Amino acid sequence: MKQENKSVHGVWGSRWVFILAATGSAVGLGNIWRFPYITGENGGGAFVLLYLLCIAVVGIPIMTAEVMLGRKGGLSPINTMRKLASESKVTQRWAGIGILGALSAFLILSFYSAVASWALYYTWEAARGAFDGITATQSEAHFDTMLANPWLMLGFHSLFMLLTMVVVARGVKGGLEKAVQVLMPLLFVLLLVLVGYATTTPGFSDAMNFLFAFDFSKLTGKAVLVAVGQAFFTLSLGMGAIMAYGAYMPREVTDQKTGKKKPISILSTVAIVAILDTLVALGAGMAMFPLLFSGGLEVGQGPGMMFVTLPLAFGNIPGGVLFGSLFFLLVVCAAWSSSISLGEPVVAWLVEKGLTRVKAAILVGLGAWLLGVGSVLSFNVWEDNTFLAGTFFDNMEFLSTTVMLPLGGLLIAIFAGWVMKETQARKELGIKNFKLYLVWRALVRIFSPAAVIALFVYSIWSAVA
Ligand code: PFF
Ligand code: NA
Repeated sequence: MKQENKSVHGVWGSRWVFILAATGSAVGLGNIWRFPYITGENGGGAFVLLYLLCIAVVGIPIMTAEVMLGRKGGLSPINTMRKLASESKVTQRWAGIGILGALSAFLILSFYSAVASWALYYTWEAARGAFDGITATQSEAHFDTMLANPWLMLGFHSLFMLLTMVVVARGVKGGLEKAVQVLMPLLFVLLLVLVGYATTTPGFSDAMNFLFAFDFSKLTGKAVLVAVGQAFFTLSLGMGAIMAYGAYMPREVTDQKTGKKKPISILSTVAIVAILDTLVALGAGMAMFPLLFSGGLEVGQGPGMMFVTLPLAFGNIPGGVLFGSLFFLLVVCAAWSSSISLGEPVVAWLVEKGLTRVKAAILVGLGAWLLGVGSVLSFNVWEDNTFLAGTFFDNMEFLSTTVMLPLGGLLIAIFAGWVMKETQARKELGIKNFKLYLVWRALVRIFSPAAVIALFVYSIWSAVA
């Protein structure tokens, strides 16, 4: 007999709800803000291909492992790993994977909210026509003026954190599940509208060339590692978010026609999430680059692309007020569903410790908010207080995304591939095709850890050099 998943926190209503929730976590600033600018910086097409490869051979196997561990444990990442470590009869030190994950989710939440709140402000600005007819200098000044105003930024940071925690406080069924069922369809519709609009602009074919012409002479060793790192960040791996969501995944579905119960295959479910995440990243590129090419603007200018160049493009095209505000609304929806998943691991853990959900959400929200204030101030008052990797914000970002995230992913791969009993992993995965299972196992045991170690060594080395 298959046992039902009865996580104390609740279970997703169906396999599709899990897919929506995991896609909600995956699709975020990583797709809409980060993917287009690193593609721009790394020369376009060839980088895109490389990135797709990394999603397939590193991203999907590790995501599968993370969901598998989560569903097996059925608890918050910390207690899931405790449980799995004792079931596997290994030292409780392995529970450190869960602690590391929950901690990095908490750290990322703090600065993710700070950046996401810029998009919240920009939605408002775009809608009131602030970018109408703007020049390049004015657009830059507009962004700098926002950064220089700590009170304004604190206001939007608080609002974004509140939005996040209101959903988390309502729980898996009443909050998370409801939110993603509204946000995700909205996000896909908005993206389709924006890509449709981009096809009507004169720069569309140049943009398609830029994104999909695979010129391998442009590839560098660094691009490979940027691609591995992006695969991690974009799929929300290594930090407990996906493990927590896996814990709420049902074990079987009831077939509509026959009424029989069928086990849910984790691998194929994860593949759908990865494909949707990739489609959104490519869609974001297809929505943004045509505008830049149409306006004859720079494509390789880095992080400022979304907040400086894009308003410039929207400000000087027909329909720019409408499409500009829809664009930033899209960013807000995407970031919101991601930040919910960043709050969940720690909140679920506190609930297991006996707190009510509401109390746990308030506590985590306040803590992450307070830490996020440091990130907000990094752009103005504390701008010149730099240490190690740079400002407070730079350090938070570096520590969580460059150190803790690959480390978490590495340990997850090792636990799933080497520590856990093979028969248990295979049973939990529910893969019917044995060859496919062998491919997964080889990737998660050898290939993914090797790729992550390379990434790790390289990024630490380039940070200190
Ligand atoms: N995957 C998200 C993005 O691409 O924006 C970022 C993220 C969300 C990372 C949640 C980690 C996480 F736990
Ligand atoms: Na993503």
